[in-house]
Amino acid sequence: MGRVLLTEEQIAARVAEIGAQLTADYAGRRPLLVCVLRGAYAFMTDLARAVDLPVEIDFIAVSSYGSATRTSGVVRLVKDLDVEITDRDVVLVEDIVDTGLTLRYLRRSLEARGPASLEVCTLLARESADLDGLGVRYVGFTIPGDFVIGYGLDAAERYRNLRYLAVYEPQD
Ligand code: IMP
Repeated sequence: MGRVLLTEEQIAARVAEIGAQLTADYAGRRPLLVCVLRGAYAFMTDLARAVDLPVEIDFIAVSSYGSATRTSGVVRLVKDLDVEITDRDVVLVEDIVDTGLTLRYLRRSLEARGPASLEVCTLLARESADLDGLGVRYVGFTIPGDFVIGYGLDAAERYRNLRYLAVYEPQD
């Protein structure tokens, strides 16, 4: 499976911190948490329950064609939101910001709908990612370039159900 990068306990502690941060930042408001399927599903369920506010949730799904560990650079919307986000405080919940291509695409799509605010919360970000340029406000962990699996993240749809994050080492 490869080296454990972040244990279940480390992830839980950081998710609690981000949840507290969101609770403070959105006090008195009713933020809409938008989970980017499928990779962010585990993070989303834990994060939503770590926010002590009347949050609402919705889901959006994108896919980028490619191999198990490499994206093709073409992002496609495969499931849109069910709710209107005009005048809503939207928090986009992502699994990992790598090149930022997915995020750029989603931001453009959501901003066009006129939300009151749009912030990005990602569990992981590559050290190489331009987080300021991409407008990412909340980051769980910054990690190097290794391909990682677990806690929602997959390699060819496997390993999403691991409770921890590990570096992916393909077996032949
Ligand atoms: P970006 O568009 O290059 O930022 O890629 C973001 C998407 O690629 C993420 O939402 C993931 O679905 C996928 N991805 C990038 N790196 C990894 C990884 O290390 N493990 C699993 N999925 C990854």
